[in-house]
Amino acid sequence: MKHSPLVLSGMQPTNTLHLGNYLGALKNWVRMQDQMPCLFCVVDMHAITQDAGYAHAADLTRSTREVAAAYIAAGVDPKRTPIFNQGQVPEHGELAWVLNCVARLGWLDRMTQFKEKSGKHKERASVGLYTYPVLMAADILVYRATHVPVGEDQKQHLELARDIAAKFNNDFGAPDFFPQPEPVITGTATRVMSLRDGAKKMSKTDESDASRINLTDDADAIANKIKRAKTDPLPLPASKEELKDRPEAENLLNIYAALAGQDRDAVIAQFAGQQFSGFKTALADLTVSKLGPITAEMRRLLADPAEIDRILKNGADKARAIATPIMDEVKKRVGFII
Ligand code: TYM
Repeated sequence: MKHSPLVLSGMQPTNTLHLGNYLGALKNWVRMQDQMPCLFCVVDMHAITQDAGYAHAADLTRSTREVAAAYIAAGVDPKRTPIFNQGQVPEHGELAWVLNCVARLGWLDRMTQFKEKSGKHKERASVGLYTYPVLMAADILVYRATHVPVGEDQKQHLELARDIAAKFNNDFGAPDFFPQPEPVITGTATRVMSLRDGAKKMSKTDESDASRINLTDDADAIANKIKRAKTDPLPLPASKEELKDRPEAENLLNIYAALAGQDRDAVIAQFAGQQFSGFKTALADLTVSKLGPITAEMRRLLADPAEIDRILKNGADKARAIATPIMDEVKKRVGFII
């Protein structure tokens, strides 16, 4: 059986989204809406793998609405494309349990993100954090999604999802039951790095707010963060060979190219030999001009939380209409009476 093309992706509502989320994923989602049917979720169930508890509940609700608003403000059209939060579609959790019984401990032991996120105290991490990539596989497979647009950091999780799909198909005697979902990792900024350290990726959880540009930052905050971004003492390179061992310069040039929609070589040629100060001013202006309208639209949408909740509910109904029959088939294959 050939599976029809379908895109699924998601983001965690943990703090606010940043430029890495936008350039690595969201910008591509908007483009893909014109190519294939898409589903985009806000993965609130993933967000509780780290900070959960009564004290975090209100933040999670607020962040979920904010992420949904960011999707819409960036150009995802909820009339065409369901936008929903994972917690409203119980089939994600149901399939995750079945897939937890398919995935092997040895496979999860190799996941580098768990090692990074659990840090030195693995035994204190939640079990949910450990099995997080299995829930991610369920997010994708519960719709039989074929394409998953993400940043580079999700590649290993996607490989795991493919292994889980293949093992399910094999163990339950249905060679084409689940597709092999394809990662779609495109653009010049598939891994945006921290503005403070070119060796670390830009992240929602970095303790330094100066390390990232948030989608909610205003023009002054953006200009300040770019002005203070770490660079090296050399002028801008004249060729991509000269970028070797200059991670901060490479990162800023990649961001510029991605925001301008230009090829990186063209950006290198445009700024070759110049000082960082002038380039940073141009980069700040470009960033403000691209993110400003998104931030303003997010603010407008967030003024009406009931409308966002309605969009999420509507999206969840549409998503469930796809997931329920697939989950019924899974239950039958497994042997559950339904
Ligand atoms: P999350 O919430 O960490 O990130 C959301 C998306 O943004 C991309 N991204 C980046 N891209 C470039 N540079 C960066 N510095 C950067 N930081 C983040 C991520 O690759 C991602 O595409 N596990 C996922 C969420 C998830 C998911 C899914 C994704 C749950 N279920 C199903 C796809 C399909 C995550 O934590 O992404």
